[in-house]
Amino acid sequence: MDESGSEAPAAFEVVGLRKHFGATIALDDVSLAVGSGDVHALLGENGAGKSTLVKILSGLIRPDAGDIHLFGEPARLGDPRTAHRSGIQTAYQEISLIKDLTVTQNMLLPYEPAHPGGQVRRRRSEELVREILQNLGLDDIDPRVEVATLDLSTQQRIEIARAISREPRILLLDEPTSALSGRDVEWLHGQVNALRERGVTTVFISHRMQEVRRFCDNLTVLRNGANVGSFAVADISEEEVIALVIGRSLAATFPEKPPRATGEAAEPVLSAEGLAAGGRLKDLSFALRPGDVLGVAGLEGMGQRELFLALFGMIRPTAGTVSVYGKPVTLKSPRDALRADIGISLVPEERKTEALALEMTGRENVSLPVIERFRRFGVIDTAAESAAVARVLDLVQVDRRALHTACKVFSGGNQQKLAIAKWLLTENRILLMYDPTRGVDVGTKAEIYVMIRAYASAGGAVLFYSTDVSELVNLCDEVKVVYRGRAAATLSGDALSESAVMRAALGEGGSL
Ligand SMILES: Nc1ncnc2c1ncn2[C@@H]1O[C@H](COP(=O)(O)OP(=O)(O)OP(=O)(O)O)[C@@H](O)[C@H]1O
Ligand SMILES: [Mg+2]
Repeated sequence: MDESGSEAPAAFEVVGLRKHFGATIALDDVSLAVGSGDVHALLGENGAGKSTLVKILSGLIRPDAGDIHLFGEPARLGDPRTAHRSGIQTAYQEISLIKDLTVTQNMLLPYEPAHPGGQVRRRRSEELVREILQNLGLDDIDPRVEVATLDLSTQQRIEIARAISREPRILLLDEPTSALSGRDVEWLHGQVNALRERGVTTVFISHRMQEVRRFCDNLTVLRNGANVGSFAVADISEEEVIALVIGRSLAATFPEKPPRATGEAAEPVLSAEGLAAGGRLKDLSFALRPGDVLGVAGLEGMGQRELFLALFGMIRPTAGTVSVYGKPVTLKSPRDALRADIGISLVPEERKTEALALEMTGRENVSLPVIERFRRFGVIDTAAESAAVARVLDLVQVDRRALHTACKVFSGGNQQKLAIAKWLLTENRILLMYDPTRGVDVGTKAEIYVMIRAYASAGGAVLFYSTDVSELVNLCDEVKVVYRGRAAATLSGDALSESAVMRAALGEGGSL
């Protein structure tokens, strides 16, 4: 691949890259060289500038200053097509698939096979995509279905598969695992290793250190838009990386679990008996008491999504009962769930489409579910509203500039924090959290864990699903592992370990 002879040039090198958005300096004089065939991690807090760098290398945005070299040659990446022609392919953080088109159309766009008259050859296209997916080990994905009907992890795999199938020399993966659970992370690991063997250079962004260690050869840390160092993964400890990422050292990531004193005695605030919903959830029972952080684990598609949607009134159960404070309830819509006498909040899976209205300001988004609370004599008291929102923004550590800034300009992780802030403001006693730390940086993750524990200690109850098993094990009092719509195991105390959760998730545990 390298035609230059003796000294192999870097796959890409950026020198003095700068980019600002209004008053925000996203990249501040960044220089970085990544060698050919390297699997290189890009680390940094939410808003550190990782996606901005990826988008510049993808030709999606242009830098204010700085140079880019590809394989030793100066390059101008004015638009995505030019980047494609230069051998760069990207799986974007905010998945870039067009939801109302089919998998086939998305995989091939804008290069679908056509008849001489320009008409797209649909059958041929589908066969082609079926073959591509098969070669990548994704034969569970039907090329004919609309992307909108697929769950987030499947969409994420398609976003990755599209980039890989175009045979890049440089592959940019912006948080490709943030919506993937165990099995799919393994799939990606296999793909990245295969690409490395073929000499492909990969940039891998993730907030999960374990993955960085397993996937990557080298890493670079960005802080406040500046490169604060590049290292061989083998030469640097996890503590050192975290200290570089957040600019200080972090003692313990998980808060202490309090003893479950009241346990059985307290009355459940939320419980379900034999719950079935949406086809996938078949028969699940649980009881959530004040002070509980109850974890839900499972591989994708085992019914956990349907469980959360049913508990928030977004889909109707097909069997079983949901009770709040011991009284059976029917939740016809999220409005029912949010009603004062019920008080259930949800931090949903997909912040982009479900959690936030991206054109609206952070203040408007965060106060939306409780806006009536700020009405005085018929008008909204915006001063009171702003003060309340500012307080929860501080809790989740989002810059107060979010009060009057549209959510779309915030980085992915900061949007996730805004989605959490919104539900903290409701002050509801029951909080459903669906993978809430997805895409959140290590420092903020730790803050969110502390917040969840504080919320529980104050008498709240949390149902917590995560694709990150270590998080479930270290944060939750008890974890229910779902397998094919049923609880395969309920683990707590010493029985609650990562390997026990993984075994049960694969359907290997005995039923408890
Ligand atoms: N289109 C935009 N308009 C205004 N500001 C932006 C825009 N895109 C990014 N920013 C700002 O630039 C900074 C860097 O954002 P970027 O998306 O690169 O962060 P990131 O490192 O990818 O973070 P995360 O881990 O949350 O994805 C942030 O402060 C962000 O708010
Ligand atoms: Mg990003």
